[in-house]
Amino acid sequence: MVAAIPALADRPGRQLLQAVVDPIGYYRRCFRAHNGVVRVQMVPGLSAQQVLINDPAVLQELMGRDNGRGISAPGHLNELMAQVVGQHSLMLLEPAPHRARRRLLTPPFHGERLRAYGALIQSIARQVFAELQPGKEWNARTQMQRITMRVILSAVFGLHEGERYRHLEGLLQRNLNLRTGRLGTVMLFVPALRRDLGSWSPGGRVLRLESETRLLLMREIAERRRSLEAGDGEARVDVLSLLLACRDEQGEGLSDAELHDELITLLLAGHETSATVLTWALHWIHHQDEVRQGLLAELATCENPDDPELIQRLPYLNAVVNEVLRIHPVAMLLFPRLVEEPLEMAGWAFEPGDVLLGCIQAVHERADLFPEPLSFNPQRFLERSYGPGEFLPFGGGARRCLGAALALYEIKLILATLLRQHRLALTPACDRPLPPRRRGFLLGPSRPVRLRVLES
Ligand code: HEM
Repeated sequence: MVAAIPALADRPGRQLLQAVVDPIGYYRRCFRAHNGVVRVQMVPGLSAQQVLINDPAVLQELMGRDNGRGISAPGHLNELMAQVVGQHSLMLLEPAPHRARRRLLTPPFHGERLRAYGALIQSIARQVFAELQPGKEWNARTQMQRITMRVILSAVFGLHEGERYRHLEGLLQRNLNLRTGRLGTVMLFVPALRRDLGSWSPGGRVLRLESETRLLLMREIAERRRSLEAGDGEARVDVLSLLLACRDEQGEGLSDAELHDELITLLLAGHETSATVLTWALHWIHHQDEVRQGLLAELATCENPDDPELIQRLPYLNAVVNEVLRIHPVAMLLFPRLVEEPLEMAGWAFEPGDVLLGCIQAVHERADLFPEPLSFNPQRFLERSYGPGEFLPFGGGARRCLGAALALYEIKLILATLLRQHRLALTPACDRPLPPRRRGFLLGPSRPVRLRVLES
């Protein structure tokens, strides 16, 4: 029998407010009312036909069909993201150009290229950790952001040294801190707050930071264009060189505006997410000492813990990272998908025009899949495997995270490097339960995670 999808009985304004201020509370309320699939109105700017989903069978089918088999993943549904990544970003592209752009951007974040980043990631991590003196306290998020920012700068531009990169790093960091603060977060959802009312207004500050960043990126693009045209650096394999070299069927390359938006997308999506996961990981590893002991024991048995490939294959480290991504998936929702024709999925009737919002956070909190879901327990990933609709921190299908492989690679390497080199402890004020809170479009720790270096 095919069932109609029930609706949450609540006013749209109240739904939006709770989804912005207390997203996890909102999802729990929705699925307490109707577990599986529920009609909601929580995303501003989308049609009223929004369906929130925590049914793994529906999600698995959705991710298998979203290349146009009854469901699509059109960029205009991500309009809210345009204020951060720009209108020309991969995230905003419609299905055909999106497929072409993904074909271009996938190789630099996979396979051989990824392995080539191994030694670089270790060396960046060691440089940053060398500053950790015994007795000193440090903020996990700040340090993790420094590392992941340098990694993504290297992948995108081919290097991360020099005055201009330090300047760019500083600007992106300030922009992100503003956007992920409480006011910046509300601004993302309330257009009136984005108005430029002078350099002290939040809208004005964001605009000034963005135009300074744009200037720097444009200068970088122009220089690289000139050097490629002059025949220099033909062997370069970084993302910017790749984007500059690509041509469509008419022989046209990407415009500067397109290049700019793609660079911003990768720089922002590529470092804040991984830095947040690393911050959560450091919290749990030191809050539950048996986890740290387990990791150290495993690293001690590793044949060559300096070999990035061997680190990737450590089962307990993999389980710990998966459990961090399960309990704090960082991206709470998949990008919206659109139903193109009447469809039945897992016994539910979907209608053309339905906008599907896969709720990663709520799937990861299902007690039938993850017993005692609010407990941090890496062991569960050693005891069973999970399907694509059950454990999905990177989404799936047409818009599966482009940087998933890079993120996992760097998170494992950075954790292994840090744990082997330093003995750390949470400061007494931080060694207690840490609830998440919304930070822009993502979810992160509600308080700073501060650690003290005991020995190096
Ligand atoms: C642990 C870290 C990360 C998490 C949890 C994460 C999560 C996600 C999720 C859930 C999506 C949407 C997938 C969907 O709708 O099916 C996504 C998309 C995306 N991610 Fe990540 N991400 C991470 C790291 C990265 C990194 C390092 C990069 C850098 C290359 C990156 C670049 C992107 C891009 C470009 C998209 C859009 C893909 C598209 O529209 O086709 N992400 N990510």
